[in-house]
Amino acid sequence: MVSYKELGLVNTREMFAKAIEGGYAIPAFNFNNMEQMQAIIQACVEASSPVILQVSAGARKYANQTLLRYMAQGAVEYAKELGKNIPIVLHLDHGNSFELCKDCIDMGFSSVMIDGSALPYDENVALTKKVVEYAHQHDVTVEGELGVLAGVEDEVASEHSHYTDPADVEDFVKKTGVDSLAISIGTSHGANKFKPEQCTRNAEGILVPPPLRFDILKEIEKRIPGFPIVLHGSSSVPQEYVKIINTHGGALKDAVGIPEEQLREAAKSAVCKINIDSDGRLAMTAAVRTVFVEHPAEFDPRKYLGPARDELKKLYKHKCENVLGSAGKA
Ligand code: G3H
Ligand code: 13P
Ligand code: ZN
Repeated sequence: MVSYKELGLVNTREMFAKAIEGGYAIPAFNFNNMEQMQAIIQACVEASSPVILQVSAGARKYANQTLLRYMAQGAVEYAKELGKNIPIVLHLDHGNSFELCKDCIDMGFSSVMIDGSALPYDENVALTKKVVEYAHQHDVTVEGELGVLAGVEDEVASEHSHYTDPADVEDFVKKTGVDSLAISIGTSHGANKFKPEQCTRNAEGILVPPPLRFDILKEIEKRIPGFPIVLHGSSSVPQEYVKIINTHGGALKDAVGIPEEQLREAAKSAVCKINIDSDGRLAMTAAVRTVFVEHPAEFDPRKYLGPARDELKKLYKHKCENVLGSAGKA
């Protein structure tokens, strides 16, 4: 059993209060390996942004939970070495059981998500409450979810989405004691967030997605004023990356994300955590494919993972400075 406090991490409580007050959102970037972690810390130190390092169940399986935990501890020291002691949260993304959440809390996570959104309402309440009771004994913060996002990831899949019903949020927050709430207002996981038939096409033939349901967000804010709201599935799927990937041997079709202006707008509200994973995957893939095509004789992993890390850092810094508004808030 190790407390996140011994590792130099923080929970989300103060971070979210400041973000709501200041009209910005904290970036929650997923990581599975060293280069992603380095890029996140380099970018957030340079931008002077607080950050949430997110670990999914798939990431734990891929990288090993012990290694990820020590990497997060290393991230705290790395940030200091780079010159800025930014607040860093280690967060479990889409926890699907009490046991998984407990394991993470016992291993030094400072925040966990219990995603009971696919369960019947009462079961979601009971499971979330159980996690909150354990987490709060250790001063770990908990994110719950109401409403279902569409989209497919390794461990997160849903065929049918439904928006969060504002009528439920007050009851859910009161009964469970959660510290933040993930909602569904039209975002979705992955690089293909919408079917082409849900979109229009602009003059260049690029898909334009339907706008986020800000009306639902407003209604939710009215029911639970000042309560921290989380947006999952918030990658913007930069078309420059899609183009680079597809002109360097890739085959991404109809990839479309959430326009950055809409995320900037959301960040000004009670949305205080914005989850971004797919954009990082695209940045890395675009950089690696470019090296492979332009330097086919290269076989030193540092020669393609290095440029991938640099591209990731550029992307993350841009998110903090121009999209979430978290730059300068550390
Ligand atoms: O929301 C899901 C995240 O993008 C994590 O994806 O389960 O493939 O690691 P993953
Ligand atoms: P994206 O797939 O849009 O990056 O969403 C990531 C996410 O919500 C992680 O929980
Ligand atoms: Zn998610």
